Amino acid sequence: MEYKRGQWASNFGFVMAAVGSAVGLGNIWGFPYKMGMTGGFAFLVIYLALVVLVGVVVMLGELAIGRKTGKGVMGAYLSFSKKYAWMGFIGLLAGFLILSFYSVLGGMVMRYMLGYLLQLFGVDGFAGQGTGFFGFMLYDYGGILFCYLVFMALTMLIVMGGVEKGIEKFSSVAMPALFFILLFVIIYVACQPGAIDGYKFMFSPDFSVFSDPEIGFFEVFKTAAGQMFFSLSLGMGCMMTYGSYLSKQENLQKNALIIPLADTIIALLAGMAVMPACAAFNVEYTKGPGLLFVSMQTVFENMGSFGNFVGFMFYFLVFIAALTSSISILEVVTTFQIDHAISKGKTPDRKKISCIYSVLIFVVGLPVALDALGSGGAFMKAPYEMLGIAYKGPGFAMWNDCWLDLYDLISEGVLMPVGAFIMSVLIGWVWKIDVVKDECEAGGKKFAAKKYYAFCFKYVVPVVMAIIFYAQLMDFFG
Ligand code: TRP
Repeated sequence: MEYKRGQWASNFGFVMAAVGSAVGLGNIWGFPYKMGMTGGFAFLVIYLALVVLVGVVVMLGELAIGRKTGKGVMGAYLSFSKKYAWMGFIGLLAGFLILSFYSVLGGMVMRYMLGYLLQLFGVDGFAGQGTGFFGFMLYDYGGILFCYLVFMALTMLIVMGGVEKGIEKFSSVAMPALFFILLFVIIYVACQPGAIDGYKFMFSPDFSVFSDPEIGFFEVFKTAAGQMFFSLSLGMGCMMTYGSYLSKQENLQKNALIIPLADTIIALLAGMAVMPACAAFNVEYTKGPGLLFVSMQTVFENMGSFGNFVGFMFYFLVFIAALTSSISILEVVTTFQIDHAISKGKTPDRKKISCIYSVLIFVVGLPVALDALGSGGAFMKAPYEMLGIAYKGPGFAMWNDCWLDLYDLISEGVLMPVGAFIMSVLIGWVWKIDVVKDECEAGGKKFAAKKYYAFCFKYVVPVVMAIIFYAQLMDFFG
């Protein structure tokens, strides 16, 4: 019997799944905190320019290659030539590393959501720790492992359901829900006195950060570029995989615009929920990653009795966002194994495959869950401690802080820029823009702006990727 690989039931379902992949912790956590650290408006301008010049282009490239070959990241490259197998490996390895730390974080978000749910019923949801809960949670290994396990299991269950009955069904309900909850939070926050300072930070023109000796243009550029890539789920074959399940009739070029647009709008909306909320309740939003867990919890505590409800809604929406993203990463490795089985003439067992990979990835993520994010004295030592490097100054601080940073550096800092760089060079110089053009025109639609895309694949994307990569190396060596 011939194995049916599956296909999105509708274009709407595909868009919900792809936007679900893109909208995640990157939008609701990363975007506001990175914007907060690198000058607000200045960051925003560079971010938007990069979405147009790089994001949309790489998105189209990935979707086109996926749909053309009808295979996930490894199979797609192998369809061109055996010698590109390592490109497939880059994507799979990045998937392993990203999903492992992403699910630990997803578990933490789930813990906060449950905490506020309990508070709604009058039970102290934060173990008597109040706003100090985050520090407590990091050393509460039982709790952290439990949440990590549950989050990973949920991810696995959805992927087991398949592309159409699992991922598409879930995303088609979850994404609209996420959108309305976000609107609710934004409106509630907008009614709080003092919220206006948050909007000003985001939208009133101010480029003073470029002349700030501590930050400067290069840092803002690098931060925005990395954020844009991560947020759009690009550079590791995620969109390639989703594209491989898309019908030839659908309009690729339009989809490649809708997904980045929706992702960017949600990132902006998330900023408009988080920054003004902090501004209204006198909580810092320029201090970095503590924003999601420490600052926002303080905000909800300060809101008074209604804070429990708003807090629950907020973490519930972050939870949905994280889950629709984590399933897209697990789907990358699952599809790889399915394609592999098919190419060997075997009948793949999706449930078994996603189960095995979930277990493997769970194990890879254990150090991330058990090192208290490098706070010291934890069950699992941080990478630098294990290597016996005592020095924690600039330069080394990048990768030796904790396992999460190390995994993130390897995946987001190295594998993804390299993956996107090579893909763009292949499309721009080796296969030529016609691979993309022909695929876009497969459904009878005309390919627009060919010159623009060709130029970006050839020059803009490789240059931007090279800059990110260079900046990464400079950070690494101080
Ligand atoms: N884009 C998601 C976010 O913003 C995370 C994500 C999902 C991702 N799939 C990916 C990141 C693939 C990189 C590659 O949170």
